[in-house]
Amino acid sequence: MAIKIAKRLQRIPLSPSVAASQRARELKAEGRDIIALSSGEPDFATPEHVIAAAAEAARRGETKYTSIGGTLDLRKAICGKLERENGLVYKPDEVMVSTGGKQAIYNAIVATVEEGDEAVIPAPFWIAYEQVVTYAGGTPVVVPCTAETGFKITPEKLARAITPATTWLILNSPSNPSGAIYTREEYQALAPVLRRHPHVAVMVDEMYEHIIFDGARPVSFIAACPEFQDRTVLINGVSKAYSMTGWRIGYAAGPASLIKEMIKAQSQATSGPSSVGQAAALAALEGPQDFVETQRQAFEQRRDLVVSMLNQAKGIACRKPAGAFYAFASCEALIGKRTPEGRTIGSDRDFTDYLLDSEGVAVVHGAAYGVPGHFRLSFAAANADLVRACERIQRACAALR
Ligand SMILES: Cc1ncc(COP(=O)(O)O)c(C=O)c1O
Repeated sequence: MAIKIAKRLQRIPLSPSVAASQRARELKAEGRDIIALSSGEPDFATPEHVIAAAAEAARRGETKYTSIGGTLDLRKAICGKLERENGLVYKPDEVMVSTGGKQAIYNAIVATVEEGDEAVIPAPFWIAYEQVVTYAGGTPVVVPCTAETGFKITPEKLARAITPATTWLILNSPSNPSGAIYTREEYQALAPVLRRHPHVAVMVDEMYEHIIFDGARPVSFIAACPEFQDRTVLINGVSKAYSMTGWRIGYAAGPASLIKEMIKAQSQATSGPSSVGQAAALAALEGPQDFVETQRQAFEQRRDLVVSMLNQAKGIACRKPAGAFYAFASCEALIGKRTPEGRTIGSDRDFTDYLLDSEGVAVVHGAAYGVPGHFRLSFAAANADLVRACERIQRACAALR
């Protein structure tokens, strides 16, 4: 007899972007020429001084368990970063380090969400928010946000979504997958609604803050709305800014009373993040920052390349993302068309399957992010691959009738 699987886990599927990347890897292993633009990680090497700091820490003997919520040195460095870059004041006991930003989100949700609790999640959203809330027994209240409002939630929509059961409003700027960035004014426009509902906590995920384009400056939610600092959890990490996804270091900053409970949750999950990973993150935050700008410029060039090539594909419309490294394009005009094999494209999922089958390009369908009729293409890949992938997408679209 098969071992019983808990209902809470049965409620969530394997993440669609993980599934898409897995399928691409399998096809590659079968010898197919696949360009996988489905996963979200920078393709650059981690800066050399960061790697050196980790090696030195290991040799110094920093190979033991650390404090569950992260070393004091790293928590102080995070406080320093938040003050320097975001103008925010936090004390080390208001900060915790986790195994990636994802675990920081997970800790916050499992520490707070129970059956019946709701989390307001503007769509398109990063898949993890919806799934972790569901896993914890809560109900995601997905608020569709259209291209017309820049894929951002408006005060009116927020007001309609809030109920007495709302525990969280989850904001992500720059957004994965849409690249949308909230301006100071857009954040401040949400403030009167949040003021009227003091039971709503805010999670703000600023993981992509350094990957922003067109000369924009990142604005942290709390810098825009300091009155909500005592009911906001800020999520960030080193994964994207320093190309350190595999080191698995992220962090949360929030009220000490909640951080304490999040550390308790983490204590029974991992006993704390990796010691050498933390030494690496410390070097990333406190060392030279030129890598961040070099990477940002590369992403901006790739964005321009990809958006322009996608807009030349028949039936595809792609807005310029303001940040992050994803193109979130509409394929709505292609729904109802037929492939050369005579199959009908009935949905965004059919379209992304068609791209993979016919041209070997792996991207993720928009419905996975709560916005059907779209797809997400990660431009965290070499220019040559991006050009080849976009040419193939153009060919695939031209072949639809
Ligand atoms: C919006 C967003 N937040 C958080 C994370 C988590 O990052 P980490 O790799 O540090 O867990 C990701 C990763 O894809 C992300 O896209």
